[in-house]
Formats: sequence, C-alpha cells, structure tokens
Amino acid sequence: MVQELRQGEEILLPENPNPNLKDYEEARRTFKWEDVEKEFTWYHTGKVNMAYEAIDRHAESWRKNKVALIYVDREREVKYTFAEMKEHTARVAAALTSLGLEKGDRVFTFLPRSPELYVGILGIIKAGLVAGPLFEAFMETAVKDRLMDSGAKALITNAELLPRVPYRDLPDLEHVIVVGAKDLPPSDGKTKFYHYEELVAKAPRDFEPVWLTREDGMILHYSSGTTGKPKGIYHVHNAMIQQYITGKWVLDLKEEDVYWTTADPGWVTGTSYGIFAPWLNGATNLVRGGRFSPDDWYSTIEKYRVTVWYSAPTAFRMLMGAGEEVAKKYDLSSLRHVLSVGEPLNPEVVRWGYRVYKQRIHDTWWMTETGAHICVNFACLPIKPGSMGKPIPGVEIGILDDEGNELPPNTPGNLCIKTPWPSMFRKVWNNEAKYQEYFRFPGWYISGDVAMKDEDGYYWFLGRADDVIKTSGYRVGPFEIESKLVEHPAVMEAGVIGKPDPERGEIIKAFVVLREGYQPSEELKKELMEFVKKGLSAHAVPREIEFRDKLPKTRSGKIVRRVLKAWELGLPAGDLSTLED
Ligand code: PRX
Repeated sequence: MVQELRQGEEILLPENPNPNLKDYEEARRTFKWEDVEKEFTWYHTGKVNMAYEAIDRHAESWRKNKVALIYVDREREVKYTFAEMKEHTARVAAALTSLGLEKGDRVFTFLPRSPELYVGILGIIKAGLVAGPLFEAFMETAVKDRLMDSGAKALITNAELLPRVPYRDLPDLEHVIVVGAKDLPPSDGKTKFYHYEELVAKAPRDFEPVWLTREDGMILHYSSGTTGKPKGIYHVHNAMIQQYITGKWVLDLKEEDVYWTTADPGWVTGTSYGIFAPWLNGATNLVRGGRFSPDDWYSTIEKYRVTVWYSAPTAFRMLMGAGEEVAKKYDLSSLRHVLSVGEPLNPEVVRWGYRVYKQRIHDTWWMTETGAHICVNFACLPIKPGSMGKPIPGVEIGILDDEGNELPPNTPGNLCIKTPWPSMFRKVWNNEAKYQEYFRFPGWYISGDVAMKDEDGYYWFLGRADDVIKTSGYRVGPFEIESKLVEHPAVMEAGVIGKPDPERGEIIKAFVVLREGYQPSEELKKELMEFVKKGLSAHAVPREIEFRDKLPKTRSGKIVRRVLKAWELGLPAGDLSTLED
C-alpha cells in the first residue's frame, strides 16, 4: 500500500504567496509555546475563559461589528457580529447560572447545527461549566449512555429531539432547556423543563465570564474505542493555545477570510475548528445546517465567497462522485485554502481537487484526544499526495515498535506523540484506567494508528492498530454495535468490523449468529439494521450483515474480529493458535 501510494513521488508545490507560517523549519527550531501564550489576555491578567478569548475580547475591540457567525440552511440566514455573540452567550451563561449550576458541572447540548448550538456551547463555557455536545443523529441509547456517564446536570435541546432524551432514567439531569417547544413535559421533583426563548429573554445581557484557571474543564467529547462504551474525552481551557496557533498556521486564517468547516460540533472537528480556532483568530465563521448536497455546498461557497474550507475525505469523494460538471456550475474562485481531516485522504482525491478546484487539499491528522492538529500539510510546504504531512512546531511524533522503541524512517509502527502538548486531553471521564492505557510507553501517548515516516520527514497513515472503525469520517466502536445487536431477540452473538468502501472509507459489516428458532432472511437483516438505527444512530448501522453458524473466538470467549476481517478480505487469518477450535 505504501509503495502504491508513493509511486512516482509526485509532489504539489506551495502556491500560497503569503501564508501565516512562512518557514516551517525555522519555526520548528525556534518555536516556544510561551510565545503563543503571550497573545492571550489571561497571560497578563491570570483570568482564563475560552469564551472570553474567542468572543468577548473581539467584541471589546475594533472587531465588534465584524460578522462572527453566518448561519445558513435552506430556510434561513442568520448573521451575528462579535458584539451580538457576546450578548447571546452572556444570556445563556447568565440563565444557566441562575439555575444554580456551578463551575465544573456538565451541561450538554443536543441540537442540530443552528445559531442556538454555537451560542449554547460558548454560553456553557462562559459560565465556567463543561460543555458536552451530542450529535443530533443520536438515538435514545446513545444519548442516555453519555448523559449518564458524565452525570450531566442540564441539557439544551429542541422540541424535535426531546423525545429521545430518557430524562426519567437520568438521576443527575435536573434541568432541560428546550428550543422551539409549544408545550413542555410537566416538571417533576427531579427534572425541570424550560422554554429556551423565555429563559434567555429574561436573562441579563451582561455577564462577566466565570474566571477559571487553564486547567479547568471546558469540553467533554464522547468517542469510541475498541472495547466498552464510548469514553468521555475531557479537555481543559489550556487547549486554546494550540487551537489558536493551528487556526493561524494550518487553517491559515486571515482577517478578511470567510471560513467554513462542514464538521458538526457533535464531533471534535466541529468544536476545535468549528468554534474555537476560527473565533480565537477573530475570523468570520460560516455554518451550514442541513444535510450534504453538492449543489447546496457549492452554492454556499459561491454565495458567501468562502475562502478557507475544511471538510473530510468522505465529502470530497462524494463531491467527486457527483462529477466535475456539478462543480463547474458554480464560481468557486473565492477558495484559497482547502483542508481535510478524519480519515486517509486518497491521492486521487488530492489530484481531482487540484484539477477541479485548482486547490491543493491539505490533509490534517489528529484525534479527539489530541484536541487540535498534530500532523498536517502546511501551506508553505510541498504536498505529497497520500501523506498527512509533518508535525506542527512544538510537537514531536515518534514511530514506535510494540515495546516502545523508536523505529527508523520507512518502517511502519505505532504513531505516538511525545507528552505533553497544550491541547492534550486531561482525562477519560470516570475512567482513569482507560486514560492510562494511552500512556503505556513512558513519555509517549499511543494513538492507536499505524504510520510511517519517510526520509523527508513526511508521515504516511497506514491503518489502525485496533478494531476502531472509521465510516464516513465517524469513529465507531465495534463493541457498541455488537452490544446493540445482541439486545435483539433473534441475535445470539455478533462480531462487527470495518470493510473497505470506496466512498465511505469503511462500511460497518456485522457477522451474526442467530438464536434457535430464527431463520436468516433479508427481512431479518433489514430489521436488525433498523434496530441499530433506532437504538444508536444512523451512522452506526451495519450496511452489510452476514449470518454465520458460529464466530471465531478465543478460549476465553472473546470474538476475534481480526479473523472476521481476514474472512471478509480473503486474507490469511494469521496466528489461530489461541482460538477456541
Ligand atoms: O485513525 C485516525 C483517523 O481518525 C482517528 C481519530 O478519530 P476522531 O477522534 O474521530 O477524530 C477525527 C478528527 C480529528 C485517528 O486515530 N484520522 C484522523 N485524521 C486522519 C485520520 N486517518 C488518516 N488521515 C487523517 N488525516
């Protein structure tokens, strides 16, 4: 695969005449995090709050009437200046404080992309609370698991999503604030319900941010691993240092830019680079609601003259699938910097983007746990299509063997990051043991990815070392889907893997053993798919189901997904000596 990717050693030379980061090598040599810290107000005052640095600071400057947020979907367009964002987030913060919520309490959002979501997350943070964004496609089990694990005390949602919130089963959930509700469920002794509009309208428009330290909690993103339920990846305000500087150097944000990321704040790209990085840099941040549609997307770029665009391989592949003719209908000439994240960016997509958008697509590698970019293609450096570029200044990447020894160039190994870095996660909520698993090699964080460095210092992603699935850019844990499947009365056992797919990167495939009395059928497959969709979320649905008489297992009864994967791909299954039969 490596050979194939690197065939011809093609490179795309830098074209941006004036990038914010001009000399990568120089920056790597001389960079000090403290130089970045000096740019924040808290460096001088000792008073820390992300919402202040991202919004209020600009609202109190000459940027106050600059448009901070442009929200668009098929029905509406809403624009807020930094001064308006300051006021809206102040009202949310004041309202939450008036409910008695206190520093460190977890407050979740369960909303589609909308002005209320962006204002909500920053309002929560402004009040010194920890924001927990939930993706709008989550169904009841997914919502319940996350609210339960985090002990969330309050939730901001809307009338449409409220039926998926099992508030009666959530002992800690005291306050539910609902956007756009006609009527609300009756408040009981435990949970009280509020109309968002009323609560915010009566809140004062001035609110001094709750001042924190850099190590106080800011955001909790749930993300999947191989085993167990999703883990709460906990980030603190200190993350802003790295989010700010990568916004400047990697997104290359400038004063006059209109920046658009297609990522939803239910996932880390949608917060780190959909909220924090753009606004820390004082940029105009465009948000498009609604679903993927090539025409809607291109017309957004045309109409709003988007200059910096951050999306994902799946989306680029779908745009490619929609054809060049669709792209040609629109004026995309405003674009000057295009980036991608979340899964491997295929060289053919890079070539296509270069031909059709006349843009180099800059791949970026990082994770929920890293909080911000780690390894990227910089505007000032050549791009090798298929490579995820070089580490950001101030961060060191190592390729380590399974004993934790560093490997030489051109050798695949575990992609690790030297600890610490400013936006590193500070805990796995309620699970110190899981947190420690990431740091088994002293001085290193283990990403779970396998990668390789070439002789020019470029990194190449080769795959996951574990069973984590990436489908359409979503990170999905096989265990969560297996657990859901076995809740169905027909299912005795299930093993779930990612199967390579040209458009989605991977699709989810489930191998299912049925209970006695159930027969394999197409209807049953459909029923199981629907069952996962209703229980978890649309993106967790196995698109393929195969019935089997039994599954490969270890003697201790653990399903061996690596053998399932080998079956699927027609590859040798490797060492089977530890298996049951
Ligand atoms: O396997 C890597 C893949 O996505 C994982 C992290 O997923 P998540 O926490 O959901 O964060 C996604 C957005 C930051 C990584 O362990 N991944 C992410 N970016 C890339 C990638 N794989 C290949 N190339 C990338 N650029």
